[in-house]
Amino acid sequence: MTKPYVFVTRKLPEEVIAPLAAVAEVGMWPHEDVAVPHEVLVEEAKKAAALLPMVSDPIDEDVLAAGSGLKVVANMGVGYDNIDVPAATKRGVLVCNTPDVLTDTTADLTFALLLATARRLVEAAEFLKEGKWKSWSPFLLAGADVHHKTIGIVGMGNIGQAVAKRAKGFDMDVLYYNRSRRPEAEEKLGAVYRPFADLLAESDFVVCLTPLTRETRHLFNREAFRQMKTSAIFINAARGAVVDEQALYEALVAGEIAAAGLDVFEKEPVAADHPLLSLPNVVALPHIGSATYETRRAMMTLARDNIIAVLEGRSPLTPVNE
Ligand code: DGY
Repeated sequence: MTKPYVFVTRKLPEEVIAPLAAVAEVGMWPHEDVAVPHEVLVEEAKKAAALLPMVSDPIDEDVLAAGSGLKVVANMGVGYDNIDVPAATKRGVLVCNTPDVLTDTTADLTFALLLATARRLVEAAEFLKEGKWKSWSPFLLAGADVHHKTIGIVGMGNIGQAVAKRAKGFDMDVLYYNRSRRPEAEEKLGAVYRPFADLLAESDFVVCLTPLTRETRHLFNREAFRQMKTSAIFINAARGAVVDEQALYEALVAGEIAAAGLDVFEKEPVAADHPLLSLPNVVALPHIGSATYETRRAMMTLARDNIIAVLEGRSPLTPVNE
């Protein structure tokens, strides 16, 4: 019997792929740092029973229509806004993601970004390397305190709660906004629910961790930034398109908020001449929330295991649309 074909959209380590290769013929895009062109993905889908894409690969109607033999799309990421899930479901294709394994790592990065933005770490490091340090001076590169301030978390899923836990260690007051109330976060972490507008008005740090959906696209618009304190620091570690970037730029330039830390952008990779990157009070990172060796391996392993389970006729471990 011929083995089913699986296409992996980036070069992943041999030892991660080996168990998959035992049950399937595996085709792999040979580059680690270059995304697979969409037309190649469509061609590969034609013969595939399973796809293992990255969060940056659009799995749209074209790919799904080409993949008439597709059983499962196992995304390497917790977010799956790159996949047309309703279209996949209609075609009977399972969609899986990689929750839990990246929660703490992404919360660490989110908090690091918050600290870096508040304490101007990137600016300070560049200042030093450029030979600009002439003397210790009272307000040299002074930033904002983090401890004992109020953090407002928008999107209180697992990562939001892990960020809240870290914030508690900094003696912060934790507010949150979520589609549904999170009693466990209220009890265990002392997080306090606020309607969106109240959270914006009361928080010193507004942290976006909500998934990108039709409802959350451009949730952070000019109006939202206007409702924040002028001293507020905005952090986005979710998806770029949850933010209207033009509105964020205008809010920063107009002094309506103080600074922003961004790990994600509407269009990735973001262009080096993007206006937001020109602002000294923006700390920008290339979507590295879950990027540690341990966590990236755990993510690829879970994506792989989802495919093996489906190919062996078992239920996937972490389905999105079952
Ligand atoms: C995810 O898993 O959705 C992250 O954004 C990828 O690091």
